[in-house]
Amino acid sequence: YCTASAGRERTLIAVKPDGVQRRLVGQIIQRFEQRGFKLVGLKMLKAPEDLLSQHYHNLQKKSFYPYLLCYMTSGPVVVMVWEGFNVVQTSRMMVGSTNPAEAQPGTVRGDFSIHVSRNVVHASDSVAGAEREIQLWFNGRELIDWDCCDHNIVC
Ligand code: TYD
Repeated sequence: YCTASAGRERTLIAVKPDGVQRRLVGQIIQRFEQRGFKLVGLKMLKAPEDLLSQHYHNLQKKSFYPYLLCYMTSGPVVVMVWEGFNVVQTSRMMVGSTNPAEAQPGTVRGDFSIHVSRNVVHASDSVAGAEREIQLWFNGRELIDWDCCDHNIVC
């Protein structure tokens, strides 16, 4: 039968505390569903500092890091794992530039934010980064392998 070369690539998407506070969770989920990606993990939590320091291990020496930590602990986050063909790169495109001032309209950041310190959403930046982040935020039992029954959907 026909196969549209289903990709098992996965990425970590997080709605940051400003996105939760501003009631944007539904709209953000909707964009990934609408695109055709498959939700395989979802939870809400107040991110502990040690988890965030591992998540942002490459930014620890940046001058903005203390502010980033303060922002990311200011309320709960909603973390998700999305699966599908090329999902890491496509998600980055859907989320838009790190700095909302440079993010294209039509992207999450370009539609919902104005400043880099409150940019609403996180998306893994590479396949290796995604694997690392998914392991950090989720244990294996929290990720659900489920089948699409429609073979015309690439997932
Ligand atoms: P980074 O990993 O560079 O970007 P991205 O989230 O797009 O992968 O930075 C992580 C977060 O740090 C970024 O989403 C927002 C915050 N940040 C600042 O607050 N100020 C800055 O100047 C930068 C570069 C990032």
